[in-house]
Amino acid sequence: MDVQGNTFLITGAASGLGAATAERLVAGGGNVVLCDMQEGVKAQAESLGASAVACVGDITSDADMQKAVALAVEQSDGRGLAGVIHCAGVVSVGKLVDREGNPASLEAYSKTVNINLIGTFNIMRLASAAMTKNTPSDDGERGVLINTASIAAFDGQVGQCAYSASKAGVVGMSLPAARELSRHGIRVMAIAPGVFETPMMSEIPDEAAQALAAAVPFPKRLGKPVEFAKMAEQIITNVMLNGDVVRLDGGIRMQ
Ligand SMILES: NC(=O)c1ccc[n+]([C@@H]2O[C@H](COP(=O)([O-])OP(=O)(O)OC[C@H]3O[C@@H](n4cnc5c(N)ncnc54)[C@H](O)[C@@H]3O)[C@@H](O)[C@H]2O)c1
Repeated sequence: MDVQGNTFLITGAASGLGAATAERLVAGGGNVVLCDMQEGVKAQAESLGASAVACVGDITSDADMQKAVALAVEQSDGRGLAGVIHCAGVVSVGKLVDREGNPASLEAYSKTVNINLIGTFNIMRLASAAMTKNTPSDDGERGVLINTASIAAFDGQVGQCAYSASKAGVVGMSLPAARELSRHGIRVMAIAPGVFETPMMSEIPDEAAQALAAAVPFPKRLGKPVEFAKMAEQIITNVMLNGDVVRLDGGIRMQ
């Protein structure tokens, strides 16, 4: 699939990995709908010029995501929604049992799973339904769904039960969704980033961020959002990438 002339919906696009992906796709000649629950997404879209529009919405809301998908279809000049790069998500930390022996909050666990996992399913179902109506390319391709997991899906640390489970669920959906949607020519992939320099990382104490950077075999630094954007672009343009998850992590294995 070409980036040039196609329309992509990017969630979590007000910030970090989503914002960098929107910039990269616009630079490649794509049209983008930037979706985020933050109002700041409007300024982000404006900064990218005429090929970008904003949509404020919550990834867990049926109505909001229906609106976002409809807007992308509307922006596509009759070609339909070609791809989703789904980056909206939250990080959370919380032990099963705290120092005083109190159990973790069930509400906090549910919130993480609701945004990261159920939100992913929400956009996948609505976007793929719209993509089935697209005219296929010569390769029979109608669309591509790119989700954002995390290496925490595989090497979760203490305190990451909720986050790791939510991201492992995203990884787990790649293959069954790709198998199901193959008859429509829709691919499904996930990217599992290691540790990237985004506003989300600023929620982690400096010392912990430095320790994580030092634990990356090579390059010994945090990932740059543009490196995530390049992987998303590769997945869009390489039709053989399907039903899998790509670790993008400089070789780090978290302890
Ligand atoms: N930064 C990292 O090191 C890293 C590592 C692994 C995975 N990830 C994943 O990458 C994705 C993007 O993270 P980032 O680092 O760019 O973080 P970020 O905080 O910079 O961006 C996340 C964006 O998602 C939006 N968002 C959150 N909840 C939402 C909701 N309910 N509806 C709509 N939008 C919502 C936020 O407003 C924000 O703009 C997340 O899924 C995160 O878990 C990040």
